[in-house]
Amino acid sequence: MSKAIYLDYNATTPIDPAAAQAMLPVLYGSYGNPSSSHEHGLAAKKLVDKARSQVSGLLGCGTDEVIFTSGGTESNNYAIKGAAWAYRERGQHIITSAIEHPAVLEVCEWLEQQGFRITILPVDSTGTVNPQDLEDALENDTILVSIMHANNEVGTIQPICELARLAHSRGALFHTDAAQSVGKIPVNVLQLEVDLLSVAGHKVYAPTGIGVLYVRSGISLAKFMHGAGHESGRRAGTENVLEMTGLGAACEIARIDLDKNMAHYRQMRDRLESGLIHRLGSKQVHINGHPEKRLPNTLSLSFYKIEANRLLDRISPNVSASAGAACHAGDVHLSTVLQAMKVPVDWAMGTVRFSTGRGTTAEQIDTAVEVVSQAVRELA
Ligand SMILES: Cc1ncc(COP(=O)(O)O)c(C=O)c1O
Repeated sequence: MSKAIYLDYNATTPIDPAAAQAMLPVLYGSYGNPSSSHEHGLAAKKLVDKARSQVSGLLGCGTDEVIFTSGGTESNNYAIKGAAWAYRERGQHIITSAIEHPAVLEVCEWLEQQGFRITILPVDSTGTVNPQDLEDALENDTILVSIMHANNEVGTIQPICELARLAHSRGALFHTDAAQSVGKIPVNVLQLEVDLLSVAGHKVYAPTGIGVLYVRSGISLAKFMHGAGHESGRRAGTENVLEMTGLGAACEIARIDLDKNMAHYRQMRDRLESGLIHRLGSKQVHINGHPEKRLPNTLSLSFYKIEANRLLDRISPNVSASAGAACHAGDVHLSTVLQAMKVPVDWAMGTVRFSTGRGTTAEQIDTAVEVVSQAVRELA
């Protein structure tokens, strides 16, 4: 077990102890197949039903609108490919943004090779999509708009409801990748007015290998996983009862504790932010992302003319965080997000993402401030 302070909760979260506890009986005792009609099967089906209702409680949707998947990547693939193939007779145009996760951008690139037209919307320097740009990009044959709820690197939160309304006004579906927002800010599919929404279990204190695609009732998607009739015929494969149980419990905890968690994440993030700015000064540190419309746990900092990987190497015995740029043999490779936000290279090359979580303490943050500011001074 690493002794380093974990400030990389946007990469993955530990399993909530109560979620792990909920999984134990499934791991050791209940082994029925939910499709079987005998007692073991019915008991397993009950667990799946419970998990589905816990997820629907968090997202504010119906239980029949929750499709379990293997994670955020699969949910995004299913939403975008499923909508593209289902509606291709109506149109072949899809709109997304420049700061999406590869699980969206690569899917769109692949669809382009299959003959679809893809428009990639720019973002401004805060990482926000301008609704006017979407309005201008919408065409009569636009079938889908996919724009993430909150960005994984800089935390910027998009005006999803406004964007979804624009898409709907032209008859297009709206998908949002909410892998980073679920459990960190309110995510209610009715308030967001989205048709499709992706959830990643391992970002919400559930295990890795489980996720959800919310599919608004009445929307048909082309089948992604062919086989038997699981998940109302939408996703074949015997249910992963163990992980569904873990995700269900994690979603219930996320719903009940949302306000408390949000306040804690923000308090810890702000302590780190002000500690580092106070130590290093604004000439050496720049905050990326929207000043207010930003995930409460996310802090993307650019350190002037410092190589992010060298900084991470130096702090890694004490602090775990992640880089927004990599330098190889003198070449700087910036993340697509920082490029899209037009962060100048001298700043972008030294970009590190810190993300706080439930286990973060004030003492950890104070130590991290010491460790990071000292490493920056040594490398400057
Ligand atoms: C915004 C976003 N979307 C999708 C994913 C992929 O999710 P998963 O790891 O569950 O496949 C991630 C994971 O980093 C993410 O941050």
